[in-house]
Amino acid sequence: MSDERTELALELRRHLAWQESDGTRVLLKEPGAQKGPAAQKGPAVQKEPAPVHPEPVPSAAEGRSRGTKVEAPSVLVPGETLDEVRRELGDCKRCKLCEGRKQIVFGSGNPRAELVFVGEGPGEEEDKQGIPFVGAAGQLLTKMIEAMKFSRDTVYICNVVKCRPPGNRNPEPDEIRACEPFLRAQLRVIKPKVIVALGKFAAQTLLREDTPITRLRGQWRQYEGIDLMPTFHPAYLLRSPDEKKKAWMDLQEVMKRLGKSA
Ligand code: URA
Repeated sequence: MSDERTELALELRRHLAWQESDGTRVLLKEPGAQKGPAAQKGPAVQKEPAPVHPEPVPSAAEGRSRGTKVEAPSVLVPGETLDEVRRELGDCKRCKLCEGRKQIVFGSGNPRAELVFVGEGPGEEEDKQGIPFVGAAGQLLTKMIEAMKFSRDTVYICNVVKCRPPGNRNPEPDEIRACEPFLRAQLRVIKPKVIVALGKFAAQTLLREDTPITRLRGQWRQYEGIDLMPTFHPAYLLRSPDEKKKAWMDLQEVMKRLGKSA
């Protein structure tokens, strides 16, 4: 077995062990593969007070009890590459978003990126072009990336849900649940040094908690051993330009962590 295959096999085994230890259901591609034990809820954590300046959207963790961590669903594609994860996603009909989409917006950029940006879900322009963050919010994100001395080609950009929610409404919990395994698989393949979670849906989904983004932003967190910085979503920054200063502070932290002088 090549070093890369050995490493992937080890990674797969570590991931399985981790999933089974917290009771997460495992979806395996191989026929006849064993499933993990039934999903269980994790321990309750302290309730959060109401945010001071909440983004005007409901919690991504809606449907979970507040302050409760929920299991992380996963899809495992042995010998994973981004192409294989995309193939596994296929012509996805796992949730109702398939009905209104023009196309799936999987992700774009460098598959070996050290920096990954995760947004919420495609809007109208992204749905037309099949590329994440190409509308108005995307133009702001591109500026943010360039201000950080990166380019769109050197980072990777994707979303929590890969299909446009009709009328740009928020993604619903069942839609996030259906799509999340593919986001997790993307991150497992890319193994970036830093993830920037753009807005509450990305931050709350990856961290599996419903703390408001106003409290999460600017604080380093860990996602599967990867440094994660939650910050405001560019669409929110377009509506609330005064908050750009805070977002820039968060991005400067990311630059420092990646050895870019701020
Ligand atoms: N907003 C997102 O969260 N993602 C996109 O791709 C575009 C806008």
